[in-house]
Amino acid sequence: MIEPAGEAMAKLKFIVLAELALLFCVLVFLFYRTRSQGTLLEGYEVRSTTGVGDNLWKAVGVNVESRRYIDVSGGGEILDDVQAYRSNLLIRNQFDDVDLKVEPIKLNINKSDVMVVLHIQKTGGTTFETYLVRHTNVKPPCHCTKMVSNYKRDVCTCLNDKGQDWMINRHATGWVCGVHADFTELTDCVDTWFNSQDNEHRERRYHYVTLIRDPVIRFISEWLHVRRGATWKECRLHCDGRDASLAEVPFCFDHGTWAGVSFEEFINCSSNMAFNRQTRMLANLSLSDCYRLNSTKTQKERDEIMLQSAKQNLMKSFKFFSPLEYIEEGQLLFEQTFLGFSFTRKMTCKKYSAATNYAVLSEKHWDLVVERNLLDIRLYQFAKDLFLQRLARMNIPVQPRNHESKIVPAGLKYSVVTL
Ligand SMILES: *[C@@H]1O[C@H](CO)[C@@H](O)[C@H](O)[C@H]1NC(C)=O
Ligand SMILES: *[C@@H]1O[C@H](CO)[C@@H](O)[C@H](O)[C@H]1NC(C)=O
Ligand SMILES: *[C@@H]1O[C@H](CO)[C@@H](O)[C@H](O)[C@H]1NC(C)=O
Ligand SMILES: *[C@@H]1O[C@H](CO)[C@@H](O)[C@H](O)[C@H]1NC(C)=O
Repeated sequence: MIEPAGEAMAKLKFIVLAELALLFCVLVFLFYRTRSQGTLLEGYEVRSTTGVGDNLWKAVGVNVESRRYIDVSGGGEILDDVQAYRSNLLIRNQFDDVDLKVEPIKLNINKSDVMVVLHIQKTGGTTFETYLVRHTNVKPPCHCTKMVSNYKRDVCTCLNDKGQDWMINRHATGWVCGVHADFTELTDCVDTWFNSQDNEHRERRYHYVTLIRDPVIRFISEWLHVRRGATWKECRLHCDGRDASLAEVPFCFDHGTWAGVSFEEFINCSSNMAFNRQTRMLANLSLSDCYRLNSTKTQKERDEIMLQSAKQNLMKSFKFFSPLEYIEEGQLLFEQTFLGFSFTRKMTCKKYSAATNYAVLSEKHWDLVVERNLLDIRLYQFAKDLFLQRLARMNIPVQPRNHESKIVPAGLKYSVVTL
């Protein structure tokens, strides 16, 4: 196992964890606070802070306001996933046994096993990929260079005893299938890529792994990231043999980047790939006519196909996934899925003291984010339930959380109550 030197460690912690964890903690915190109690501020503010905790509570000026909420004991309409999400409820699905039961795999990287990390933007993927290259007991271990300051990522090689790559990971192989390649791109590309490598003569078993995240938090995190200048315009959006054209997916911005974009501009751009990003990146887009403008299906039909495909893939084609919000439990599930593979460090969401941005949005804006990400919300509710049921099946206890979703049976009726 590689233990980074002290200096590199410090930078690693600062860059990777600060970006991810602080934003994550703060937004989760704000999110639930906002959802359960309403928000003071009209519009939004983006602020800088040098620490989280009590100061933040004061900065936000949290106020308890009454608002409408769903009374699940009522006998009205049937609760759907979006309403459940808004009220911090989780509808329990009936899964087939085969989808709940995690069949452990004895990972043999020297033979056929290959791990493919699908990295959805702003889901904790950078940290996850770093842990996979730096903090596991895998033999032979990955070899990583020291992190160079203005070069914010690890550069590693992860090779088996025959010198063959065994993991598609940004830090190791780079983006071999395009920047933040999605399921459609990866499944189309990995085999070809491996075959093009020298030294590659083996049967390969691909194991897809990924993280997902609360869709509203993720969307806002992406907005803040784009605000800071990220574009991902190198994404290929490859599907059915070609990249999406500019006519199909126009850029939302004219000049090089979208730095400084306001929330309104960000959410107003109809071709913004941040909308329902998780669903799109986990689906087989070929089934919903890719990005084609001349599809004979309606948008609604394409959306439903995409969502069903993303759910099926997550359930059946991924050996492992975890919501970022449950990463501690996810790490255990990972280790029980890939036998003989364990992490030497825990991923957690703790207190970090680094300057970063966070957002305070009004309830109106939260609602807009929900409306624009309905597919991701439905996917996330489904996936979270599947994940929690898998944990239960594997006897992995769930750590108590302040804002645990309440689990309710499918078909539950509700009524809206205004306090
Ligand atoms: C792969 O081979 C190396 C060298 O023989 C060995 O040390 C390592 O334990 C093997 N890894 C696995 C997962 O079998
Ligand atoms: C966003 O769209 C809304 C509704 O179409 C419009 O009222 C608003 O002016 C737009 N805002 C920006 C910044 O484009
Ligand atoms: C995606 O869908 C297309 C069209 O049905 C199919 O040919 C292809 O095998 C699918 N890809 C995966 C990875 O399931
Ligand atoms: C849609 O356009 C693509 C090219 O973008 C073309 O190959 C295909 O035949 C068209 N399909 C229909 C139904 O017109």
